[in-house]
Amino acid sequence: MKILVIHDPNLDLLGRREPEVYGATTLAEIDRQLTYLARELRVEVKIRQLAGEGEIVRAIGSALGLFDGILINPAGYTHTSVAIRDALAGAGLPAVEVHLSNTAAREEFRHRSLSAPVTLGQVIGFGATSYLLGLRGLVAALA
Ligand code: DQA
Repeated sequence: MKILVIHDPNLDLLGRREPEVYGATTLAEIDRQLTYLARELRVEVKIRQLAGEGEIVRAIGSALGLFDGILINPAGYTHTSVAIRDALAGAGLPAVEVHLSNTAAREEFRHRSLSAPVTLGQVIGFGATSYLLGLRGLVAALA
């Protein structure tokens, strides 16, 4: 089983980006934990960090046939991108959305996710653990 993991813009800055919101864990550490969990679950992960909406749409759109599911943190695009929502809806693959912070407890503009309705589910608010729970949920759903 192969899972495509996509980190959207600004997540490369984790560790020094608003640490009071996102904590001290770096993206490299999250990737290390994901890779470790993937080995335990006996799945393959390909992890990409992409900043541009177009490249994210292209990565999602070309995933069918190469991957079995998508784990995505759409970051700021969660709240704005119809294109990423449409890409997930049309990808033909199950997806799980994750967020480090509890977006429901933050500014009002973060309360709505355009992409959540076209995913299997969301995991929010557990820091790096959101990714690990999301990967577990996606793999269980695919099994
Ligand atoms: C985020 C939450 C988004 O609102 C924000 O724009 C991000 C990170 C999170 O993981 O908590 O960039 O997706």
